[in-house]
Amino acid sequence: MMHYDALNLGRREFTYGLDYLQKASNNAKFPFLAANLVDRKTQQPLFQRYVIKTFGEKSTLGIKHSGVRVGIFGVASMDAGRSMGIDDKEKVEFLDPISTAEGLVAELSRTCDMIIGMGNMDMSEARKLTSQVKGIHLFLISGNMRRLYQPEILQDTGTILLKAAARGKKVGEIVATFDVKQQKITTQDGKLVSIDDKLAQDKEIEALVREAKRKGSEITREIRRKTQAQKENADARDLPDFRPTYIGAEACSKCHKDVVERWRNTKHAHAMATLAKMSKQNDPSCVRCHSTGYTDSGGYLNEKETPQLADVRCEACHGPASMHLDNSRIRLRKPTLQVCKACHTVARSRPLDWQKDKLLVH
Ligand code: HEC
Ligand code: HEC
Ligand code: HEC
Ligand code: HEC
Repeated sequence: MMHYDALNLGRREFTYGLDYLQKASNNAKFPFLAANLVDRKTQQPLFQRYVIKTFGEKSTLGIKHSGVRVGIFGVASMDAGRSMGIDDKEKVEFLDPISTAEGLVAELSRTCDMIIGMGNMDMSEARKLTSQVKGIHLFLISGNMRRLYQPEILQDTGTILLKAAARGKKVGEIVATFDVKQQKITTQDGKLVSIDDKLAQDKEIEALVREAKRKGSEITREIRRKTQAQKENADARDLPDFRPTYIGAEACSKCHKDVVERWRNTKHAHAMATLAKMSKQNDPSCVRCHSTGYTDSGGYLNEKETPQLADVRCEACHGPASMHLDNSRIRLRKPTLQVCKACHTVARSRPLDWQKDKLLVH
């Protein structure tokens, strides 16, 4: 179990709404920080702006050693509220993180030896903030996919930048010596540490993850059920549904045997096996791109109910084919690079070379 001193709120945390977040904050054993998130009307902060921690305080033989006082604050980029609901968006405002940080550093440095800032923002914004605001010893960055394999030291201010990898895959670790007299970090050694199978699993967290995944597939099933019911309603009202449905690749063999055989030897045909190797075959955030039609009604659901739509099959690129199966003169989509880009995103894939890569699909 990890120990936390503070959490910096970022874009993802706002998705479930501010009410939910306030409650979670009240239940947590550590503060949720958001120095530049204010009520639009009153301009008052909605969460704690900073926390001050004292480390190494002790008294020996009646003499008190005061310890090191560390001020920790958190800010987010001004567009961190973009995934908020409409109601929340109207209620709140993100102030400029740079001037907010400037004010905080001035305030904290009166009583603190060391200042740690946190920023939910991209690298260029973090660099801009820390090169403009003097006095931040360590700045922890979150909220973007770019990895920082080693801490970066800013020339102008000496601030050390550190970050973790996205989705909790790696945590940033730093061991530093802080010289209280000089008020600066004199030595530091940092790296990214993988959160992988080498670390012992926490049973409690494992159970939570399993439960969340189960709920995830239940919700997907419920949405599918509703769409199906709507469809049947439409049928009942005598509105024929002209939408084609997903079939799977087996049915195509009859007339496109050679294409199917060639496809079978591509990575697309083994995309689910790739996930299974990592026990991720039930994780909706992965299955979306490693199966056929997952985000569409009638598409892949799970291993049991729709095994014929596992992997990236014909219809992932050509679209649902039931009608073409009935009548081959009903044409299917000729895929363009746009189709590939739905899955081959910048974060997930090398850039595709359309002329070459389209020849590799079958
Ligand atoms: C439904 C999502 C999806 C779509 C659409 C898709 N791909 Fe893929 N692609 C994947 C996945 C997932 C893998 C990796 C499979 C594995 O290794 O398990 C992959 C792998 C590949 C590979 C092999 C890996 C490599 O880098 O050489 C190529 C080539 C490729 N895709 C090209 C394309 C092209 C071209 C298109 C569009 C015509 C396309 N893909 C459309 C999901 C998709
Ligand atoms: C946005 C679509 C998308 C999502 C979401 C996605 N993948 Fe993939 N994945 C791809 C594509 C595209 C490739 C092929 C990339 C390439 O080879 O350049 C791929 C390749 C892979 C590979 C093999 C190549 C590699 O990078 O080692 C693994 C393993 C993998 N994905 C695991 C996962 C896991 C686990 C998840 C969920 C946490 C996931 N993917 C979610 C699209 C996606
Ligand atoms: C990853 C995406 C992708 C998958 C999966 C895929 N195709 Fe294609 N298919 C394409 C592209 C791209 C073209 C060529 C479009 C072009 O030339 O502009 C194509 C072309 C075709 C053609 C036209 C003739 C030809 O060979 O060029 C047929 C037939 C075809 N695909 C059938 C299939 C069948 C059957 C499957 C499943 C076994 C399948 N495709 C799977 C992307 C895909
Ligand atoms: C009963 C035979 C038959 C079956 C089964 C069949 N096709 Fe076809 N398909 C054809 C014929 C014939 C053409 C050529 C149409 C033309 O050129 O006029 C064709 C053409 C295509 C094309 C090229 C684009 C187009 O529409 O001209 C794609 C892509 C394609 N089929 C995909 C599939 C997929 C995917 C499946 C399986 C879900 C499938 N086909 C099943 C007979 C079939």
